[in-house]
Amino acid sequence: MILCGEFFYHGRIVYCCVEIEDGLIVNVKRDLKGKEVKGVILPAGIDVHVHFRDFKESHKETIESGSLSALYGGVCLVVDQPNTNPPIVDVDTYFKRMEIAKRKTFIDYSLNLGLTEDNVDEIDKMLNVIERVYRVPAVGEVFLNKVGYDTLKKAKSKIRKLITVHAEDPNEGDVESEIKAVENCLKIGDFHFCHISTADALNLIYDSSSTSEVTPHHLLFSKNDVPFDVNPPLREIKDRVELIKNFWKIDILASDHAPHTLEEKREGAPGFPGVETLYPIFFYMVKRGYVRINDLVEKFAINPARIFGFDRYGEIDVGKYANFAVFDPKMERPIRAKELHSKAGWTIYENLMAIFPKEVYIRGEKVLEDGEVLVDGGFGRVIRKNSKF
Ligand code: DOR
Ligand code: ZN
Repeated sequence: MILCGEFFYHGRIVYCCVEIEDGLIVNVKRDLKGKEVKGVILPAGIDVHVHFRDFKESHKETIESGSLSALYGGVCLVVDQPNTNPPIVDVDTYFKRMEIAKRKTFIDYSLNLGLTEDNVDEIDKMLNVIERVYRVPAVGEVFLNKVGYDTLKKAKSKIRKLITVHAEDPNEGDVESEIKAVENCLKIGDFHFCHISTADALNLIYDSSSTSEVTPHHLLFSKNDVPFDVNPPLREIKDRVELIKNFWKIDILASDHAPHTLEEKREGAPGFPGVETLYPIFFYMVKRGYVRINDLVEKFAINPARIFGFDRYGEIDVGKYANFAVFDPKMERPIRAKELHSKAGWTIYENLMAIFPKEVYIRGEKVLEDGEVLVDGGFGRVIRKNSKF
């Protein structure tokens, strides 16, 4: 199959044709003959921080509903977080969850293994067992206050795999506690830092060999803009302005998609859904000139693939999967919670302008067109060890 159109290729939008075989791009040339695709064709997004719940919290979200929401947002691959109920802190629960994902996920799915004080002594052995079958993108502590620096240090000495940390103490949550936590972690070694909310912490990470991730809500909203809680909390306007000024230093944009029901939110459950709206909001900002298209693709496709080791994702090039999100710049519209697909049913981005993808392709197959999903749950693949992934 050959698709022709305006592709994001080698750092710019160029007209070319992409030849696809078995889901992989095998040839990119100007002068092939193929099916014309209208719109701006970007690599489909990779969201490395989602909470798809499921298990005993299926009323908030399931792998099925979360991955459908992701697909509508132009995302082809997610990294799910281990703070589920029950949490992903042992081999059996990891395998159980991957079985659900195999049957239900619309898009490609991977899962971090949780790190705790109780499993750190076994973490290398657990990884060995799981990685006979699946590729674990990262080991993640569930919360720093529950894990502690000694455990992180021990984990670092036992495994070479990427470790993600939430650099915060949810009991404190202020700007200083984030900076302090980053400083302390950097003394131990390299990490991937989830949802960084301050420019000072971002700068510390930028000057190290660790990597950083920032959410749209910490860039777009300040403290009093949203009546709901999130961890880390939304900051003062001046902190947010500093973060925006340092936007170019961010390695990864990730949603921290954290669905809760409205009732749970009123009771204080922290977190916002966002996997469906990240690419659409930022593509709209590209159109308006607030964000460079290269920065967006780098932070939501290229860097996530590189940092988390998804070799065949993140770029439109020979040897990569034909995973595309196609945007028509004219199709801007306000975000409406009732039109989104997360079980949460609400969004902090209500009425913000966005451009949702008109088409999405996964491994060359058109999976979404004009608001209609063309595949069933289970179409997506789980990331396996030593397979073509
Ligand atoms: O606000 C948050 N909610 N931050 C996190 O890091 C976790 C998340 C959740 O699981 O609800
Ligand atoms: Zn999270």
